[in-house]
Amino acid sequence: MDSIENSKLLKLEAHLRSRIRGQDHVLPRIISLLKRGQLGLTKLNRPRGSFLFLGPTGVGKTETTIAFTDFLFGEGKLFRFDMSEYQTQESLGVLLGAKLGERGTLAMAYDRSRCGTLLFDEIEKAHARILDIFLQILDAARVTMANGETLDLSGFYIVFTTNIGGADLLNLQHSTFATMERHVLARAQQAMRPELFARITEKLVFNRLSYDHQLEIAQLLLNGELKFLGDKGYKLEADKTVLPFVVQRGFHPRLGARPMRDTVEKLIGDAVASDLLMNGVSGGTVTLNEAANCFRIAPLS
Ligand SMILES: Nc1ncnc2c1ncn2[C@@H]1O[C@H](COP(=O)(O)OP(=O)(O)O)[C@@H](O)[C@H]1O
Ligand SMILES: [Mg+2]
Repeated sequence: MDSIENSKLLKLEAHLRSRIRGQDHVLPRIISLLKRGQLGLTKLNRPRGSFLFLGPTGVGKTETTIAFTDFLFGEGKLFRFDMSEYQTQESLGVLLGAKLGERGTLAMAYDRSRCGTLLFDEIEKAHARILDIFLQILDAARVTMANGETLDLSGFYIVFTTNIGGADLLNLQHSTFATMERHVLARAQQAMRPELFARITEKLVFNRLSYDHQLEIAQLLLNGELKFLGDKGYKLEADKTVLPFVVQRGFHPRLGARPMRDTVEKLIGDAVASDLLMNGVSGGTVTLNEAANCFRIAPLS
């Protein structure tokens, strides 16, 4: 391991903390496994590390996976498999290739990279034969395709996500995180195949997002949008009315922060568009137009 790689690992924590809000209880365990994985301290002939991410929708499970994968490997090294598309017996052929000469989706990822992260979303939906493949991956980091070729997946992190227990979370809204965590882990353990559950190294329950964390996420997305417009020559500031309105519009009790990015883009984009059309100026302060329930751009004073 060279010194560039070492100094990168030392910055991993700061990077994840800058991108992920309200999940400080899981980040140290994620970082610890990633460090061991990157330094080659995990078991030979296994994936670099394996995670099961649980908890509500839209609270950062995928975002965390994207953040650490991009940071460690560069962009384009995250390969995502949505298990709602692998519910039937035939889906085994989709994953591993069915006919001679046909590449399955797993081999297609492998063709693009020998390292990175394989993300299997909503594994409770996967067909039983697909779960057998997960066991092979976790046990030996090897999968044999329909054409007989064997893929060596030891360069990858494996991330599974599941919504098991998620439906009950709305009823547990007023309980503590510890209660929710216990409940979700117990439900997952009941529902998943025990040998699969046991083989995953880190099982982590993500928390609901508090209002303050929702505001922080809105701020992150807003910063991104203002920078994007700034680079286009449109200089904007936002006043204090902006974030609460973004959260009100962009946070959903069942979807979490999922709608937030689109909300920010739409609200700011609409205000900029109408300002450009009416006034033709190139910047100002974004503020809430309460009467019209949208943002407007006030000229910089
Ligand atoms: N904890 C968080 N920190 C920062 N951004 C978040 C967080 N949770 C959600 N988001 C935002 O919401 C979007 C959806 O979150 P995602 O991670 O895809 O949800 P899920 O937990 O269902 O995988 C992300 O793209 C990101 O913009
Ligand atoms: Mg997700």
